[in-house]
Amino acid sequence: MNIKERRSILVTCGPGLRGYLQAELEELGFEIVGSHPGSVLIRGSFIDCMKLNYCLRTAYCVLYLLREFRCGSTGALYKQIGNVPWENIIDPKSYVCVLSKVDTWTVNNTMYPNLKVKDAIVDRINRKTGSRPDSGPDRNSIVVNLFWKNDRAWIYLNTSGVKLSDRNYRKMPHKAPLRESLAAGMIMATGYDGSQDLVLPMCGSGTLAIEAALMAMNKPAGGLRSNYCFKHVKVFDDGLWREIRNNVNKTIRKGRPPKRIIATDIDEQAIDAARQNAKTAGVEHLIEFDVCDFVKTDIPEGNGIIVMNPEYGLRLGELEPLEKEYKRIGDFLKQKCASYTAYILTGNKELSVKIGLKASRRMVFYNGNIECRLLKYELYKGKKPAKKPEQ
Ligand SMILES: C[S@@+](CC[C@H](N)C(=O)[O-])C[C@H]1O[C@@H](n2cnc3c(N)ncnc32)[C@H](O)[C@@H]1O
Repeated sequence: MNIKERRSILVTCGPGLRGYLQAELEELGFEIVGSHPGSVLIRGSFIDCMKLNYCLRTAYCVLYLLREFRCGSTGALYKQIGNVPWENIIDPKSYVCVLSKVDTWTVNNTMYPNLKVKDAIVDRINRKTGSRPDSGPDRNSIVVNLFWKNDRAWIYLNTSGVKLSDRNYRKMPHKAPLRESLAAGMIMATGYDGSQDLVLPMCGSGTLAIEAALMAMNKPAGGLRSNYCFKHVKVFDDGLWREIRNNVNKTIRKGRPPKRIIATDIDEQAIDAARQNAKTAGVEHLIEFDVCDFVKTDIPEGNGIIVMNPEYGLRLGELEPLEKEYKRIGDFLKQKCASYTAYILTGNKELSVKIGLKASRRMVFYNGNIECRLLKYELYKGKKPAKKPEQ
């Protein structure tokens, strides 16, 4: 495999994050070739894939296209996959995991094409080298993705494996933590760039604060992760990987961001976890932690940003106390946060009404499989300023 060869790269992401992923890819200089609900298509080399794995905040996996073909049967699938020179990509001593997404009239059992792909790969390597790699569900070594739609199939080398949202800093999850890629997308949605004060009451295990601090310093999201699937491919070059990281690391901002990041929670254990996670991520010194009820959070003068992720209770009996909590959030924003822009993530519309403020934007995000809204509130001192008449 020629690591400089430009091919299609499919970058996958969680639902609701595609727009943010697209913005990240454009910022890194890639032209968007296409997009689907959970993925964005660009073109680039295997070397580009390594850099993308290191940098992207909102992505799940970076997939490098090996072959695209017409496919009308599982027999054709086995034959086409067997034509890929796997012996140049995969060491016979390594381990292979196959992931399949199949939507074709040809088969009604998605496990069968998965098995056919795995067989075609290991049979080819066995034919060419005399030994066959192990296979199974573990995503820590070689991962291959099959997409088969109607009569077309695509086989990708998954250069990430375990989702990139597993950054490796959250050693202490606490309760209901946000996935790191979702937290990054939410921070992007606020327009935060380190030049504003950022206040995060109800911070839980600190995911929003840590992602914001990483962004403020322009630190790559993959800084803590040591394993990626591209490292298990035969052509992997450790020197080149070090060079890619060194080049990206040159753009890390040194020192502290000009403004404050404040993270608070009423639960001492949550703050312990958040502090420990921030320490692991190397950003503890950038965040001011405090244990307090959210209304007691220190709000710096000026026009900063507040982001909150209160609980939104899914079971009966949980809603009544939460209604009071959401009303308290509204009062807090009105009384203590004038001239700030506030963002509340909630998965419950009835509760959001209790905030008693009019949202100027409602952005859709998914927390796991729960559809949520990130509600934006522009807060003013006294009366809302009248819009300037147009010239
Ligand atoms: C849904 S969790 C936040 C999870 C967080 N975004 C994360 O990624 O870990 C809600 C948090 O609000 C905190 N909380 C609940 N009531 C509070 C209050 N009155 N004041 C401050 N924090 C509160 C809880 O302790 C919990 O950590």
